[in-house]
Amino acid sequence: VAGNGSAARPKFIVNSPNVVYSDSEIRSKYTYRTTMVTDGEDGTRTVTPKETVYDFKLDTKIPKVGVMLVGLGGNNGTTITAGIIANRRGLVWETRNGRQAANYYGSVVMGSTLKLGTDTKTQQDVNIPFHDVLPMVHPNDLVIGGWDISGMNLADAMDRAKVLEPTLKALVHKEMASMVPLPSIYYPDFIAANQEERADNLIAGSKACMAHVEQIRKDIRDFKAANNLDKVIVQWTANTERFADLIDGVNDTADNLLKAIEAGHEEVSPSTVFAVACILENAPFINGSPQNTFVPGCIELAEKHNAFIGGDDFKSGQTKMKSALVDFMISAGIKLTSIASYNHLGNNDGMNLSSHRQFRSKEISKSNVVDDMVAANTVLYAKDEHPDHVVVIKYIPAVGDSKRAMDEYSAEIFLGGHQTISMSNVCEDSLLASPLIIDLVVIAELMTRIQWKLHSAEGEDAKGYKNFHSVLSVLSYMLKAPLTPPGTPVVNALAKQRAALANIFRACVGLEPESDMTLEHKLF
Ligand code: NAI
Repeated sequence: VAGNGSAARPKFIVNSPNVVYSDSEIRSKYTYRTTMVTDGEDGTRTVTPKETVYDFKLDTKIPKVGVMLVGLGGNNGTTITAGIIANRRGLVWETRNGRQAANYYGSVVMGSTLKLGTDTKTQQDVNIPFHDVLPMVHPNDLVIGGWDISGMNLADAMDRAKVLEPTLKALVHKEMASMVPLPSIYYPDFIAANQEERADNLIAGSKACMAHVEQIRKDIRDFKAANNLDKVIVQWTANTERFADLIDGVNDTADNLLKAIEAGHEEVSPSTVFAVACILENAPFINGSPQNTFVPGCIELAEKHNAFIGGDDFKSGQTKMKSALVDFMISAGIKLTSIASYNHLGNNDGMNLSSHRQFRSKEISKSNVVDDMVAANTVLYAKDEHPDHVVVIKYIPAVGDSKRAMDEYSAEIFLGGHQTISMSNVCEDSLLASPLIIDLVVIAELMTRIQWKLHSAEGEDAKGYKNFHSVLSVLSYMLKAPLTPPGTPVVNALAKQRAALANIFRACVGLEPESDMTLEHKLF
């Protein structure tokens, strides 16, 4: 039960000497097996299996969690809020196709399963809901709040978004009407000029300053106190900003960034001010838009404060497909030679992206998503060789939130042959993004309860338990341009991202990664 201070009862018990359960914790001893490769001067290559033994500790008490969205009055903000209310109340509404019940389709945590193991009697796979692997907060229990530069109440904002069926809107109208976003910070140079009209709910001041950081920190504290919360997670689902220029002395180090905010430097974006406030307030902050909120100074600040951050840019439609399809093509040995991606959409996000500098942020975020897969295949691609990759986004008001994505993939196959795959994807943008936003909250919260140390038997190195690194790259599955700890590789391939998530969770309860070898069905 959320927030009552007692531990959630695990959905299964691992029968192993490496896993110990107590009233408030699960501890596991886990052997992490990797492979190290050394290339000698003489051209010999030595490959050495490596084992590292870790102790993991999971706090099983599920806290009462609040989520504060920056951009609460937008399409995503209103859709998430209405969706959670609908699920919490078990709503059913009429549509032209019949009765529709609330669900969490599209959420990895709530809508997908994980193979736990093999049934001793039937020898068949046993699959469990992803949500049941470790004790996680239930989305129905999340308390929602946040900020928007538009002061419209959420019922009117939900109408403005044009995403949900009128019958569903009627059922949640009263509750939504009672919710009004907190005033936010607005630095007009960072988002498209066409957004100015809705900016009527503002904290005074049009450039970064410490008063803004302090106000946001206070908003988080007040929200926490008013709702009796143990933890608050903050997510940026506000408009895409332009990139901030990276300037030495301004945003290169944590100290310089704080000084730049104090001095009111014009190159500090609203999203960076939110990130800084959350880091100082120790509230995990996730950036769902493509801009470079996490300038180097901001990442350093998070590391210094041991605070969690994650980003960038929700991976919902076209890019998610790309990170699955390209992974398939290149790992099948097919030489992808070009990707042409066209989008058109007619919601407010599309209107904001019709401005060049904001489109540029999205273009960068969408363009790097195949780099790791291409670089990994040294058979098909020479060093620095890349497929052509172009991304076009156009604003077509008539299609509203129903985004169109058209992609053409060309590839070279056997003996100079060609393969062209054309894909057309139509879907409500916000109905794809909202469940991901919920996943990001649930998983980020869980990551705050997992700690690790080198197993004591490893000798001198064994210190006290620590958190995961401040940059939560484990959230990559939900993000287009995954932020990783400085200097570490970015993984875009969708299957690898999901496997990392699932296997880290398994490790916390002392289970081996799911290898899919199924030798039990092959060797008998
Ligand atoms: P939206 O335009 O409907 O909502 C954004 C909201 O942010 C608006 O209500 C606006 O008033 C508010 N806002 C702008 N600047 C603000 C500030 N400084 N402080 C507080 N509020 C502010 O957009 P939508 O569709 O909800 O998308 C939100 C973001 O998520 C966009 O940046 C979009 O690129 C990103 N995203 C969306 C995806 C999707 O919907 N499938 C996928 C990937 C990313």
